[in-house]
Amino acid sequence: MFQIAVLISGSGSNLQALIDNQTKFGYRIAVVLSNVADAYGLVRAQQAGIATCVVNHKDYDGREAFERAMIQALDAYQPQLVVLAGFMRILTPTFITHYAGKMLNIHPSLLPKLKGLHTHARAIEDKESEHGASVHFVTAELDGGPIIAQGRVPVQPDDTADALAKLVLTVEHQLYPAVVAGIVKGMISAPPDVRIDDILAPIDLPLLLQKVA
Ligand code: GRF
Repeated sequence: MFQIAVLISGSGSNLQALIDNQTKFGYRIAVVLSNVADAYGLVRAQQAGIATCVVNHKDYDGREAFERAMIQALDAYQPQLVVLAGFMRILTPTFITHYAGKMLNIHPSLLPKLKGLHTHARAIEDKESEHGASVHFVTAELDGGPIIAQGRVPVQPDDTADALAKLVLTVEHQLYPAVVAGIVKGMISAPPDVRIDDILAPIDLPLLLQKVA
């Protein structure tokens, strides 16, 4: 069975979607790692019988030491893919290089638009007609890296950031497990050198769902 590790810092609703689709898509979450001891995602993992571990960045002297501790904890489970799901620490090349081509992130915008935080409010401010979520391979550039797939939602004139966030999350919950399924099935793979920020033509969610079904 294809083994994945999921990294979280908070509520873990994407983690829940990944948990719920393990059997359907033929992968197994070997471990959930959080840098926050009381992240609700840890409860979700425990309820599903998945191993958890906490590596708190505050316990380490600097990012490198923190990342080395995470690598040690994760590699004990030999993950074939590392999945960032609301993991709220910036990663350095120490960690990124170790999992080059084997690490995914989900970002709540149609990348390369709206990198960074507060994407839903910014989509409304910018009067975007369309918004959504993207899954990409992780490179050293924040919210950069080859974009694999995207899910889109329309932005209504009277939308609030909260309403839009909820709607985008429903898309994320379909998108992330489907991308993992595409990797498990060998339909999606990292470009030979993921440090080069060559954008793959992102697959739209409806087509991706068809392909992995
Ligand atoms: C999601 O919006 C994801 O796109 C972003 O962080 C949020 C995590 O939410 N990277 P959850 O913890 O999965 O509910």
